[in-house]
Amino acid sequence: MTTTMTSVDDLFDVDEVRAVAEQVMPAPYRDFVNNKGMEKTLHDDIGAWSSIHLRPRALVDVRDVDTSVTVLGDRISMPIITAPFVGSSFVHPEGEVATARGAMAAGTITTLSMNGTCTPEEVGAVAPGHYWQQLYCVRDREVVRDVVARAVASGASALCLTVDLPVMPAFPRPMREAMAELFQRWSSDEHAMYVVRDYRDKPFGSTFPDAGVTWADLEWLRGLSDLPLILKGVIRPEDALLARDSGAAAIIVSNHAGQGLRSSQPVAHALPSIVDAVGSEIEIYADSGIRSGADVLRALALGARSVLVGRPVLWGLAAGGADGVERVLRILRDELAEVMAITGAATIEDIDASVLAPRAS
Ligand SMILES: Cc1cc2nc3c(=O)[nH]c(=O)nc-3n(C[C@H](O)[C@H](O)[C@H](O)COP(=O)(O)O)c2cc1C
Repeated sequence: MTTTMTSVDDLFDVDEVRAVAEQVMPAPYRDFVNNKGMEKTLHDDIGAWSSIHLRPRALVDVRDVDTSVTVLGDRISMPIITAPFVGSSFVHPEGEVATARGAMAAGTITTLSMNGTCTPEEVGAVAPGHYWQQLYCVRDREVVRDVVARAVASGASALCLTVDLPVMPAFPRPMREAMAELFQRWSSDEHAMYVVRDYRDKPFGSTFPDAGVTWADLEWLRGLSDLPLILKGVIRPEDALLARDSGAAAIIVSNHAGQGLRSSQPVAHALPSIVDAVGSEIEIYADSGIRSGADVLRALALGARSVLVGRPVLWGLAAGGADGVERVLRILRDELAEVMAITGAATIEDIDASVLAPRAS
């Protein structure tokens, strides 16, 4: 891949988008995104998806393939939603607003990180009704209350509480060095997380994760708004059942793509037992290591209703702002449509476990 490329439309797959993006990403952020020095869990996730063999279906009328799906009652063009991620402003001056624009242009939902640079108001203005607000239940609950109120006022359609990082993990040296450089940049207004910038009068530590949050706190959180609550970062079936019993509308089966618990079970391996446990009582989404339309189909065949994608979207943002995000989402959608056609699924509802080859003994 060379820098002579003039348009993101020339980019053919996620690997090509990544190659362009990595030429322009600041080195410490690229290292952070790549989990430098602790790549194994992400590697296992990617490998677990790609090791699932698919089976084609013969002679089905697939002239019209429809990839649209509903999530929490909202119809979107593809079962692919942008995951929340911190640091967008390092790769594009419009940050999360550009991601939201790209997602809207592609007909899907964007999720704003509570650690994002752009605010709920800015993202809600470009993606009203198609924006989910990610939350950490930070130490000062008034901050959580205020962010929820701002999200509601800005047109968010769901809240997404991340439940897999009660503490910041101790990263190995290459990640620590990258993070140390990034923290320098986060201290400037240009890159500051809005939750730090907008609540800077609060005592130090107010916006740090609260390691004491439990299931008992969810009732309080649900009481802050009428928005459906999604729990992000569930890996065990017993937690999926607790999520259901706590009134969550959906869960995201996720291991934070290797940035949380190292050596976590891959999502592709965790998903089936979660689907068995909660069935269709709540919606189930999946993320971590989805890199192609075939991976999306695999996740759906295992019982997910939709996936979220993080790094591919971030690479799209770096490669071409909103256009790059739209491009990467369209690449994944077109790949999904193609693999649906070859496996005999004209609609998302036609995808089932029969497409998955039994594991060779
Ligand atoms: C650079 C980066 C920053 C992230 N920041 C957040 C965040 O602020 N909140 C959160 O819930 N998840 C965060 N995540 C996790 C993503 O939301 C998502 O779970 C993960 O990236 C999905 O895997 P993928 O990148 O392989 O698609 C981050 C991931 C990356 C790579």
